[in-house]
Amino acid sequence: MLEIKDIVQIYQDGQSQVTALTLPSFQAERGSAWCITGPSGSGKSTLLHCISGLLRPTKGTICWDGKVMT
Ligand SMILES: Nc1ncnc2c1ncn2[C@@H]1O[C@H](COP(=O)(O)OP(=O)(O)O)[C@@H](O)[C@H]1O
Ligand SMILES: [Mg+2]
Repeated sequence: MLEIKDIVQIYQDGQSQVTALTLPSFQAERGSAWCITGPSGSGKSTLLHCISGLLRPTKGTICWDGKVMT
């Protein structure tokens, strides 16, 4: 099971900061199918990078089967 709690991803872009993603809560059972939708720049790729472990979110926790990955 995937459990997401209060994740925020902030990128440093030169002098400014970009809040790319905020997701207070999401859970998905193993084997379930989900679709991530949203306009360009809304944080879809950032979310997938965080879920897959390629990127550690600035804040919050991601758990796979109860194991904290962040
Ligand atoms: N490496 C990065 N450095 C700075 N800003 C980024 C970076 N990657 C993405 N962003 C910014 O974060 C926001 C979300 O991007 P992204 O997750 O790629 O959205 P999507 O996949 O929905 O188009 C956008 O404003 C984008 O410009
Ligand atoms: Mg994308």
